[in-house]
Amino acid sequence: MDMDSENTIVIDDRRCSFQQGETILQVAQRNGIHIPTLCHLKGASPTGACRICLVEVEKARNLVASCAAPAVNDMIVKTGTPRIVKVRNMNIEFLLASGHHNCFAQDMDPDSWTDFQLRAMETKGHEDLCPAYGDCRLQELAVKYQIKTGRFMPVDTSFPIEDVNPFIVRDFSRCILCGRCVQACNEIQVNNAISLGYRGSSSKIVTKGDMPLKDSDCVFCGECVQVCPVGALITKHEFRSECSKVETEDAKKIRTTCSYCGVGCQIYLHVIDDTVVKVTGVDDVPPNYGSLCVKGRFGFDFIHHQERLTTPMIRKNGELKDASWDEALDIVAEKMKQIKKESGPDSIGVLTSARISNEENYLAQKFTRAVIGTNNVDHCARL
Ligand code: FES
Repeated sequence: MDMDSENTIVIDDRRCSFQQGETILQVAQRNGIHIPTLCHLKGASPTGACRICLVEVEKARNLVASCAAPAVNDMIVKTGTPRIVKVRNMNIEFLLASGHHNCFAQDMDPDSWTDFQLRAMETKGHEDLCPAYGDCRLQELAVKYQIKTGRFMPVDTSFPIEDVNPFIVRDFSRCILCGRCVQACNEIQVNNAISLGYRGSSSKIVTKGDMPLKDSDCVFCGECVQVCPVGALITKHEFRSECSKVETEDAKKIRTTCSYCGVGCQIYLHVIDDTVVKVTGVDDVPPNYGSLCVKGRFGFDFIHHQERLTTPMIRKNGELKDASWDEALDIVAEKMKQIKKESGPDSIGVLTSARISNEENYLAQKFTRAVIGTNNVDHCARL
């Protein structure tokens, strides 16, 4: 433990040093002290929206949101007093009651449902398993703190599901207005496409003019989907029941490099039965630190597309026919030799690609210069 007497706070009887500007949550996390969070998003400024990360600070009248409160020298902080537990649990109950969260009725005998569950199961679409079931931060907190969900009745939403775009489904009935999507859009991706709109019970995440995403400034990078802690933002792949968010969590995660451009974003391919069902960014590593663009995140249908070419083809008598790689390479080599002999090396040019690796591009220019004997080498500008 660092013991800098100038800058220390005491969290749960442990003295911890801190740097000017650090929040109580950051100091706790750095020292391995667990404080539960929900709306907190690493890399974005805190909103203090969910009040799950509450702590008790000596001499402070109210409980403090640790994700938003800066550490101050000699502060005495407690993270798990009965007062904190009581208020935190109530906040989780409020969040559960703020929308359509029927997960608590799943896998349970209807005879043991509480009034909350009965009401939840009366709402439209109740029979649908939430696409985030099993991978929902709110559900996880409710189970962990054994929330009974009996005190507050669920509130219906008047906003219909929005799915008029090829990538993202917005289910406002499951939104808890934690603001993570807004922070991700505005501060991580800096697209400024969404914000919190309206007031009170009409509050909603909106685009400019409250238009559907497809008519807004949204570029469909999917950062909002990646950070949504509940089932309010889901990819279309996950929304279709053949591939729920739960199933994708069971998928094999294979780390690789995105091949759409030369940036080299690090991605996970989520694979079930040899089929890619989802792509996510790899957190905390350069160059993308978990973020992706629309192509990297959603452009993977081509991998298993039935029209994808899986073998070289050679045109014989005007018709394209499948061929082996040896046959194809032989014919290309023959024709190139013939062109070089008849018209000289400068009659040949090689186009490489931003989609291939540095090493492959190096080999292509080496082949062009050393084997063919021309400097006519460039790359295809269109990705
Ligand atoms: Fe701190 Fe939500 S995590 S208020």
